[in-house]
Amino acid sequence: MKIALGSDHGGYRLKEEIKSFVQSLGHDVEDVGCDCSDSVDYPDYALPVCRKVVAGEADRGIVICGTGIGMSIAANKVPGIRCALVHDMFSAKATREHNDSNVLAMGERVIGPGLAQEIVRVWLETEFSEGERHVKRLKKIKTMEDEYSLHP
Ligand code: RB5
Repeated sequence: MKIALGSDHGGYRLKEEIKSFVQSLGHDVEDVGCDCSDSVDYPDYALPVCRKVVAGEADRGIVICGTGIGMSIAANKVPGIRCALVHDMFSAKATREHNDSNVLAMGERVIGPGLAQEIVRVWLETEFSEGERHVKRLKKIKTMEDEYSLHP
């Protein structure tokens, strides 16, 4: 798969570790930054990751900040993005099976690199269950997006 990856300064070190890890799993990574630990604004890096996902230029996205919270809030403003903030293995699997999440958010100040890698591995490997009840719920989210999105 092609994975778009981005972080702010609070997630920079974990992003670099996750980049190598995702590549070691055989995926292509497009890193949108940031490029060092200097202070930046997380929406500036959530947006390019999400743009690539909704445009089909990336299959999935991973966004990292200090807590993962700011990145997940920003990512979920982009119509078509289902971003899950995940810090445990159960949620990593469940959010793929139930929510068909296409962006994963994590916080460098919340979890260590070992757990983050295993979360990423499971999240990338797990397929959406496509169960009728899950599809119905995702359609309702799409209806919400359509109601509140601006259309030209
Ligand atoms: C940056 O200090 C921090 O606020 C950011 O990385 C993130 O945790 C925001 O949600």
